[in-house]
Amino acid sequence: MEATSVSSKWILHCMLFILAVQNTHCSVTYDRKALIINGQRRILFSGSIHYPRSTPDMWEGLIQKAKDGGLDAIDTYVFWNVHEPSPGNFNFEGRYDLVRFVKLVQKAGLYVHLRIGPYVCAEWNFGGFPVWLKYVPGISFRTDNEPFKMAMQRFTQKIVQMMKDKMLFQSQGGPIILSQIENEYGIESKAYGADGRAYMNWAAKMAVETDTGVPWVMCKEDDAPDPVINTCNGFYCDYFSPNKPYKPTMWTEAWTGWFEDFGEPIHHRPVEDLAFAVGRFIQKGGSFVNYYMYHGGTNFGRAAGGPFITTSYDYDAPIDEYGLIRQPKYGHLKELHKAIKLCEHVLVSADPTLTPLGNYEQAHIFSSSSGCAVFLTNYHLNDAAHVTFNNMHYELPPWSISILPDCKTVAFNTAKVGAKASEAQMIRTNGKMLSWEIFSEDISTINDDSSLVYVGLLEQLNVTRDTSDYLWYTTSIEISTSESFLRQGYDPTLTVQSAGHALHVFINGYLSGSAFGTKANKKFTFTGGINLQAGVNKISLLSVAVGLPNNGAHFETWNIGVLGPVTLDGLDEGSKDLSWQNWSYKVGLTGEAMNLVSSNGISSVDWVGGSLAINKQLPLTWYKAYIDAPEGKDPLALDLRSMGKGQVWINGQSIGRYWTAYANGNCSQCSYSGAYRQWKCLSGCGQPTQRWYHVPRSWLKPTGNLLVVFEEIGGDASRISLLKRLVSSL
Ligand code: GAL
Repeated sequence: MEATSVSSKWILHCMLFILAVQNTHCSVTYDRKALIINGQRRILFSGSIHYPRSTPDMWEGLIQKAKDGGLDAIDTYVFWNVHEPSPGNFNFEGRYDLVRFVKLVQKAGLYVHLRIGPYVCAEWNFGGFPVWLKYVPGISFRTDNEPFKMAMQRFTQKIVQMMKDKMLFQSQGGPIILSQIENEYGIESKAYGADGRAYMNWAAKMAVETDTGVPWVMCKEDDAPDPVINTCNGFYCDYFSPNKPYKPTMWTEAWTGWFEDFGEPIHHRPVEDLAFAVGRFIQKGGSFVNYYMYHGGTNFGRAAGGPFITTSYDYDAPIDEYGLIRQPKYGHLKELHKAIKLCEHVLVSADPTLTPLGNYEQAHIFSSSSGCAVFLTNYHLNDAAHVTFNNMHYELPPWSISILPDCKTVAFNTAKVGAKASEAQMIRTNGKMLSWEIFSEDISTINDDSSLVYVGLLEQLNVTRDTSDYLWYTTSIEISTSESFLRQGYDPTLTVQSAGHALHVFINGYLSGSAFGTKANKKFTFTGGINLQAGVNKISLLSVAVGLPNNGAHFETWNIGVLGPVTLDGLDEGSKDLSWQNWSYKVGLTGEAMNLVSSNGISSVDWVGGSLAINKQLPLTWYKAYIDAPEGKDPLALDLRSMGKGQVWINGQSIGRYWTAYANGNCSQCSYSGAYRQWKCLSGCGQPTQRWYHVPRSWLKPTGNLLVVFEEIGGDASRISLLKRLVSSL
């Protein structure tokens, strides 16, 4: 009943709208074959470019490259947490200028798919939710919960209204042809039972009622109610059919590669496999493909989710992190788009008929009054095939599709890559040696005057509210001169259980050791001998967040930080539980509070210069230097290989988190194998997962740029260098 009434309302709305606007602008509709824009069914290629993952001065170039690569549309999520950092305070400036981004896409003559979410996943901190949302009384995320639904509706309506005010929907003559509500809710929906279903139906209805005049999609939600279109995400989507015969077959995330986690492998998806996947989708009747990502970009600041997602979000996409074209991926896809566009008319007007041509070979034939097109497919993994179609002979490489837009001539084969491969090089710039100065955090006085003292261990996010990655937990222990370990010369053992994500242990102001969670095990235990003296000893634990989770059922309830127990072994009394002592807390670092990253705050501390200080590999140390912008326009990156783990800023702008030492010896390269539907990994390349960190050109002035690095463990800043990224054809 519900679905029918929504559906008829939608149809009525569309009809009224079409009547109202006559032929000036037309709304977007759909049928079982395709999206219909201005009365035309369309085969559309789209690419994800997330506006906060690049700088506004890069946007136009990225969009133009996407257009030149044969795309019709740009897809972006809307990132709630950057737009509403505190309740009711909105930010749509700079990298967060959504309207400007959408207008630039329009200017280039492309369409937009606006994935409002507002849950977006996206390897983005907290899946795009503002952290304050967790603290709305009675809230439970992504389920049939009034406080959540109210907040979600308010934000969704705000974004829709903003787009309407600027006439950005197609129905108003703007570029937005499609919007998404929620994101991959299917799995959650099933896990949450009746509440999940009720929420999903509510979300669909709420979205439709915003009356945008363009269709809504729900990706990976098989039960999406009419008129919302359910769509597929994945490496392959040729198995996918929408939940109603009158909806088009759409692929909202064709994964071009994959994201990286610190300490984990680097991913590569061969373009032959991606093109084969797209060919298979189109030949079975698919009409919309969005590449996720077309340009991945950078997780600047603390935007990366995870935990442990790298600052680079390169994704092995057709346009690399720095905005440079990645070949042969870009060029091969461009040729694929051209070939498919040659037969767009017949693809949208005919249903394919399938003719087997052998054990592994098939012809998918589209034939109508607009012409004839055929996709010849060889599913064999290793053997080429010779097939006969319409009395003509064709050779098909293994695992490939040939596209014949006129049923005669091969315009494209997915396995035959014509585009030349490019190679990225990181070139040293001829700048002066950097002259570094340091400021070390004063660890010995941490929490001496803490305003938050508590009996027991507090969950980290509850204390920091994510205003910083860092939370200090400090307690003390009195050691009597009669303890045997003092005479016998061994160290008592401290054991700290952490719920994530990283931990540095300081005893009486000195770094005693560190421990880290991993992608597989976010919870971890620090165990280490600690040097205690007779008298009062100060135990300071610096717990570090490395990106908040962006997916998983009710991730808002997941804990981080030192939750204990914290125990000390090796004392005469045996094991001592420190968990229920007095603990004092401090959110963030002194340097953060003093804003050492910006020219305003820089002079609030005394910096120490000279090579002696710099080469010492000190923990919890701030480094500053002034650097000139290298000449030219080539993209720039900092090589941070000589450093450990921390964060880096240029002129007060956060380039992001870095973490290099962790991955050494543990990293590998993975290549996606479509044939086996899995990543195949080589091990032991001995490189950090991420060594280079993108410094956007627009953040630099010609000379005297303030570069600030905060290092947690210890690194060699004298070996930091600024590199140019060049891409050459092989
Ligand atoms: C999808 C999700 C995206 C992104 C992607 C992996 O499941 O919808 O937001 O997280 O996985 O990169």
